[in-house]
Amino acid sequence: MKWLSIATVTAGLAGSAAAQAESVPYTDAETGIAFQSYPSADGVEFRVALPATIEAGKPYDVILQVEAPKSLGWIGWAWAGQMTYNPLTIIWANGDQVMHSSRMAFGYSSPTAYPDATYQILKGTGVKGDTLKFTALCKGCSSWTDFTGEPFTVDASQEARFAYAFSANPVAAPADNGTTFTIHDGVGHWYHDLPGAKSASFADWVAKNTVGANGTAPGMNGTAVLSATRPRGAPFRFMERVRRDLGVDARNRA
Ligand code: HEM
Ligand SMILES: *[C@@H]1O[C@H](CO)[C@@H](O)[C@H](O)[C@H]1NC(C)=O
Ligand SMILES: *[C@@H]1O[C@H](CO)[C@@H](O)[C@H](O)[C@H]1NC(C)=O
Ligand SMILES: *[C@@H]1O[C@H](CO)[C@@H](O)[C@H](O)[C@H]1NC(C)=O
Repeated sequence: MKWLSIATVTAGLAGSAAAQAESVPYTDAETGIAFQSYPSADGVEFRVALPATIEAGKPYDVILQVEAPKSLGWIGWAWAGQMTYNPLTIIWANGDQVMHSSRMAFGYSSPTAYPDATYQILKGTGVKGDTLKFTALCKGCSSWTDFTGEPFTVDASQEARFAYAFSANPVAAPADNGTTFTIHDGVGHWYHDLPGAKSASFADWVAKNTVGANGTAPGMNGTAVLSATRPRGAPFRFMERVRRDLGVDARNRA
């Protein structure tokens, strides 16, 4: 049955060259951002939006969004689909806040802080009911120095293999993004459609969903109308309306 084994090998090769993407288009109503979203079997969704133009081998920004049950102790996203030597985005809920921590693992042990990936929190970050949602612009999630010391960039012209991990156990110090935590209860791998995640609206989405350090609303040009402490005398109902219209909760900033 020689032909059969050849057919099998060929199918295997075709599979690895052009893997079947497991992400689907998803538009987040709160931000208007059109993502490619991977709905994992563990109830966590991992989403990516990219700029329309990405030069091969050059670092690029990503908008990521993670939606998950807030009851999870932590959720991790591994940007090269493995535990070690790639940026890890770790997320958990701390009461009403969504915490994030940038890590890298250099072995199968607790990952350490990784300062070369930075996150700008966007609107669409907070806890509602039983769900946490984290939305951010990441610089440094798509390129880094690999195991051999060479620069590595996630190829945005094809599907990318990502990985996730999660634990039901809370992190040791939920209010501290440098906290330690214990090993996962589960891990998973998937192929994400990156060409399908590209959009000419990328910069617009970032601008429209930018929130200031003190809760400044998008488009407000520095007026901290959404600061956690209402300015003296600010009309309460106006504040409520702005919060509602923007869907921004001033407490939900990591
Ligand atoms: C205290 C923290 C952690 C410990 C102690 C730990 C430990 C381990 C161990 C022992 C394995 C099995 C290795 C093997 O099968 O040979 C593993 C696999 C894995 N871990 Fe972790 N881990 C931790 C955190 C994380 C985090 C934050 C992520 C982020 C996504 C992650 C992602 C993975 C993945 C994807 C695998 C599968 C093997 C691979 O693709 O590398 N782990 N981990
Ligand atoms: C924790 O947050 C601070 C302030 O935003 C940031 O500078 C630091 O890099 C973060 N640490 C980790 C491990 O993500
Ligand atoms: C935020 O508030 C702090 C304390 O009131 C202030 O020092 C800082 O300049 C403010 N930052 C912005 C971006 O408004
Ligand atoms: C904010 O400021 C910029 C530049 O100063 C301006 O182009 C923009 O229209 C302003 N936006 C609002 C909402 O005032």
